[in-house]
Formats: sequence, structure tokens, C-alpha cells
Amino acid sequence: MTVKNPSGPRLRAEDLTLSYDRRTVATSLSVDIPDHSFTVIVGPNACGKSTLLSALARMLTPKAGQVYLDGAAISSYRSREVARRLGLLPQSSSAPGGITVGDLVARGRYPHQRLLKQWSAEDEAAVTEAMRQTGVLDLADRPVDDLSGGQRQRVWLSMVLAQQTSVLLLDEPTTFLDIAHQVEVLDLCAELHARRGHTVVAVLHDLNQACRYATHLIVMRPGGVVAAQGDPAGVMTAELVEDVFGLPCRIIDDPETGTPLMVPAAPRRYEAEGTDGTVLTKTP
Ligand SMILES: Nc1ncnc2c1ncn2[C@@H]1O[C@H](COP(=O)(O)OP(=O)(O)O)[C@@H](O)[C@H]1O
Ligand SMILES: [Mg+2]
Repeated sequence: MTVKNPSGPRLRAEDLTLSYDRRTVATSLSVDIPDHSFTVIVGPNACGKSTLLSALARMLTPKAGQVYLDGAAISSYRSREVARRLGLLPQSSSAPGGITVGDLVARGRYPHQRLLKQWSAEDEAAVTEAMRQTGVLDLADRPVDDLSGGQRQRVWLSMVLAQQTSVLLLDEPTTFLDIAHQVEVLDLCAELHARRGHTVVAVLHDLNQACRYATHLIVMRPGGVVAAQGDPAGVMTAELVEDVFGLPCRIIDDPETGTPLMVPAAPRRYEAEGTDGTVLTKTP
């Protein structure tokens, strides 16, 4: 294995061309994931967020460019070695039919298993802790197929946590979750980042949650282009949101946290216009 850039961040993508057969999703895409950051990626549907995450986790091979993990090309690692360093929660996954929650989460321990050393107390403890953190311990004996979307999402997250990697890539970890569970999952990510020094990368749709939790925000625009990145307070402007999402809005201070709070402009349908174009009534 050749060490290319030992001084850079643990995870970075350099000049990637990402495509599926003939559909090119991104060209010249470079991102650095700051070590120990809680990096949040936002961007409109289909702009290439999941594709980027797949490339960062070596699930997709770039047509050009390279992803570097811990100073070496990620393509040069054995897959088990990648899985010991980096865990991916894909946007959608399907569980083997009939598998129970406990057995699925236990699969997260695969990269830690040795040929001759079978299931250990350490594996058991990691699985129990991961299920406790995501609140699915009570579901351990239930078939995954029988769960609600939100419960299933927490089970998958639990499997990634059981992998006990210090880099976590989470593609829309809050999808299907009610608001309280969304906050719970984001708080857990923030804790892993703040207390344990993990590097967490999450794709989120809610810009206000992104601004609250991200220590580093990456905004992507269609075509797999990074439109802006950095501290949310500096990145999140009304101009950027209108430019990237096509949504007129205002940015105010979040009254709880002081981070940017995006308020969409009131739609024009709230205004009833007279025949001469004057506004007759305006409902708030
Ligand atoms: N497996 C695939 N095969 C072909 N095209 C794909 C595949 N996955 C995604 N795409 C296309 O690549 C583009 C980027 O998709 P994706 O990375 O999933 O976007 P995002 O996660 O930002 O919504 C979209 O146009 C999507 O249709
Ligand atoms: Mg996606």
C-alpha cells in the first residue's frame, strides 16, 4: 500500500468523475472531510449526494480520480479493512427475509470477526450498546420485515454503529423518523462526534437541522458540484438557497441555537389579487 498524503484529512475525494453506465453524475468533484467533524451534505434531489457517499465508502468506483482514506487510495485496501475504519448507512437497504433485528445488527460485527475466533463477549457488548443507543433493544427478537419504516431505519443505523468505526457515513439517517426520533438520531451523531471524536458525515434534507448540527456544511448543486462549504453560519445565505434550491427565503437566527434558520418566503397564492392587479387581502 502506498501512502500518498499522510498529512491530509483521513477521508477525501480528489477530482472524481462519478457515473452509472453512461450517465455521468459528477466530474472534477473534490471534497475534504475534516477530521473529527460532523459534516452535513445538503442539496436538491438527484444532485449526487448518495453517489458521492457511495464513492467515499468504496461502494462505487470512480471513473476518474481517487478517494483517499488514512493517506492511501481507498481502492488499495482489503474490503474488511475499509469496513473496520468506515461505516456506511445507505439510503435504502433490504434485509434478508425473516432475519431478526438482533441478527441483522450482529452483521455489523463481520469486519471484526476472525476465521478461528468466533462470536466474542466484545461483539455481544458492541451489538447491545448499538441497539441501546438507537432505542431498538426491545425489538431484538422481532423480524425486521415486521417493523415500521422508522423502526427499521434505527435498526440499520444500529448495525452501522455496531461496526464501531471512527468514520460514519450516513445517507439520510432521519428519513422515515418522526421529529422526536430525528432529533434523537442527530443528538446521537453529535455525541459520537463531540465525545468520542468520530468523524460523522450525514446527508440531510432539513436545512435548519443541517445548520444546527453541522460543524462543516457542504452544499451541492445539480451536476454533482459543491456550491459552497464551511461553517453553516458563513455558508447558509438566502442567495445560496435560492440559487441552489430555487426557493426564495429569508435566513434568520434560530432562537434556540443562534444558527441560521431558513424560512421559505410565503407563497404568492396567499395573495388574492383584484382584476387590476392590486392585492385585496393577504392572509398570514
Ligand atoms: N444505480 C443507478 N443507476 C443509474 N443512475 C443512477 C443510479 N443511482 C442514482 N442514479 C442517478 O444519478 C443521479 C444522482 O443520484 P443520487 O446520487 O442518488 O442523488 P441524491 O442522493 O442527491 O438524491 C440521479 O440522476 C439518479 O437518477
Ligand atoms: Mg440520495
